Order: sequence, then structure tokens, then C-alpha cells
Amino acid sequence: MKRILVINGPNLNMLGQREPSVYGNTTYEELVSIIKNHCESKNIYVEVFQSNHEGDIIERIHKSKDFDALVINAGAYTHKSIAIRDALASVNIPFIEVHISNVYKREIFRHKSMLSDLAVGLITGLGIHGYLYAIDYFADNN
Ligand code: DQA
Repeated sequence: MKRILVINGPNLNMLGQREPSVYGNTTYEELVSIIKNHCESKNIYVEVFQSNHEGDIIERIHKSKDFDALVINAGAYTHKSIAIRDALASVNIPFIEVHISNVYKREIFRHKSMLSDLAVGLITGLGIHGYLYAIDYFADNN
């Protein structure tokens, strides 16, 4: 059974309430159950983690060695966190970077990612489907 860890960074716990025109109406709790149901139907073991704290995200990445793959939406840390980048590099587990919104249609400061060049791939702008597509990629590959 494939083991996938989904990591969500700051403010993603506010999904559903937070700028719904950008991030949609699905709440974070609904997102978690959509991901869990999807993985159950595909016979994938999944854990879903969210934190608003950079250090907690880093420590979760450090403890992810028993996972086959990571799906990470690091939120705003994507654009500035060398420390999360270094954590991902240190565990050397394949990951896909996901963004709910299309960051390239938005402010220029969102166009830069500290993570993308280490990622297997990047999914941006497909809403919460992006998480499921990333999971499906790892279910079928690697
Ligand atoms: C985001 C895009 C980021 O720029 C932003 O800071 C987020 C969410 C997205 O999922 O579209 O918090 O990662």
C-alpha cells in the first residue's frame, strides 16, 4: 500500500471562509475528508497535516521518512521559506507542490517558489482537485 503525506501550510485551515472567490467554498475539514475518501477508494494510506507554524511543518517533514511521497501546499511559505525547502531536500522523498489558486495569475511575489525546482511537479490553479491529481500521480507512478 502506498503511503502519502499531505501537508498544508499557513491559513489553509481557513479554507471555506478565506477569500472564497480565490480559494473556493470547501472548508478545510471537507478537504480533509475528500482526500481521505479518495485515498480509501484507491487503497492508499494517507495522513493529512496542517500547521500555521513553519517549524512544525519542518518537523513534520523530518518525520515523514516512512512515506513514499508528499503532497505539499506550503501556502505563503512557498514563496519565502528556505527552511522548508531545506527540510524537503533533507528527507529526499518525492513531492508535488500544490496550490489551489493559479499563483501565476496573481501578485508577482507569488510567482516565486522556493520549492518547485525540487518537486516532481507543480499543480496550480485547479482548486482542491490539485491535491487529488497529485495523489493519483503518486498512486500510478514512482
Ligand atoms: C496558495 C497560494 C499562496 O500564494 C497563498 O499564500 C496561500 C495559498 C494556494 O493554495 O493557492 O496561502 O498556496
